[in-house]
Formats: sequence, structure tokens, C-alpha cells
Amino acid sequence: MKMTRKAQMVGAMALMTLLAAGPALATDEAALLAESRDAVKQFFGKLKGTLMQGMKAGGPNAAMTVCNTAATGIAKQASASYGGSVGRTSLKLRNTDNAPDAWELGVLESFESRLAAGEDPAKMEHHEVVSMDGKQVFRYMKAIPTAAKPCLACHGEKIDPTVEITLNRLYPEDKARGYTEGQIRGAFTLKKEIQ
Ligand code: HEC
Repeated sequence: MKMTRKAQMVGAMALMTLLAAGPALATDEAALLAESRDAVKQFFGKLKGTLMQGMKAGGPNAAMTVCNTAATGIAKQASASYGGSVGRTSLKLRNTDNAPDAWELGVLESFESRLAAGEDPAKMEHHEVVSMDGKQVFRYMKAIPTAAKPCLACHGEKIDPTVEITLNRLYPEDKARGYTEGQIRGAFTLKKEIQ
């Protein structure tokens, strides 16, 4: 039987509706992964841009206060455009608001094992569809390697005393110091409900 163009379109649309209503498909996951990688790129770009602006204007001490006041807002903006949640976490926190949940903790630990096994942290990521409160949620994490510059000025072993004073004042429970180049400083962490 020969279908009219309209009948073909209606058929295709019905199929699309059917697919959209069905359980998470591999293709959806691929799209979510691409979308998440893109969101990380944008988020990281914004954070780094703001950080470097602050460093140029007044060195690490001035940049510290910029980071302290701007990071949360940048994460909120990134979350809104992603349509889920975009943030950072770590095994050794500076801001305790960034504390990992159980799933994130497991992934952070697996990143450490992967690093110890010789994997490049710049390419390390993990994604998974998990069930949270009865909902299917796509979760994605990407490791954040510690670069010598500019990270160590504020996360390294030798921190300028002026910077240290500001750090102690803003983050009295800071654990995010003593890093060396190539270690994993933390990870980007994203999540989004898929149905
Ligand atoms: C000018 C100082 C400064 C520099 C340079 C800096 N950071 Fe930070 N970093 C901070 C501050 C301040 C926070 C806490 C931000 C907040 O309150 O959310 C932070 C938080 C983080 C977090 C979130 C997890 C946590 O511990 O709360 C990660 C991950 C991170 N930094 C990675 C890096 C990396 C990677 C670099 C290098 C590209 C870097 N930082 C450079 C000051 C700095």
C-alpha cells in the first residue's frame, strides 16, 4: 500500500511519541551525555573566565573573594540552562555546600582508583541512569585535574600568607589545600530527571 506524505508524517510522529513515552533508550542517554558534556564546557569556561579576571585584577587574594561570591551564582545559571543541576564536588572540600552524596562519593573514589591505575584525569568521566525517589535520573561526573597554574596558588602546598589569611577567614574548615599538579581536585557533577 502506498502511503501519502501526510500519512507517513503522522506515522513518524506517532512513533516519536511512542519512543518519548517509553523507558530511557540508549539514544536518549547518548543525547543526555552530549548535552552534559556541553554544559560542563560552558560552566568551566565561565568559572575560569571569572577566576582569571580576578587574578589579573588583583592576584589570588582578590580572586579568592571573586570565587567565593561568584561560584554559586555561576552554578545556578548553569543549572537553569541545563534544566537540571550543575555543580562541583570533591573528596577534600573547601565549601561544604559542595559535599558529595553517596553516589558522587563512590564515583570520586573510583576516579582515584582510575588515576592510580594510570588513566589521564583530563579525560575521566562517568555517567549512569539511576533511580532517585522513584524517578529516573541521568547523572554525569567529570574529573577536574589540578593544573599547576592557576590552581596551586589557592589549592597547593605553599600558599601565600595573605591568601592563607583570607582562606582561613572564608573557609575555616577548608580541606582543599596541599594538592600537587596532576592530582584530581574534584569533579563536575550534573543530574537531570529524565521522566
Ligand atoms: C584564587 C583562588 C583559587 C584558585 C586560583 C582556584 N581555586 Fe578552586 N576554589 C577556590 C575557592 C574560594 C573555592 C570555593 C568556592 C565556593 O565557595 O563555592 C574553590 C572551590 C573549588 C572546587 C569546588 C569543590 C570545593 O572544594 O568546594 C573545585 C573542584 C576547585 N576549586 C578546583 C579548582 C581548580 C581545578 C583550579 C585551577 C584551574 C582552581 N580551583 C583554582 C579558590 C581558588
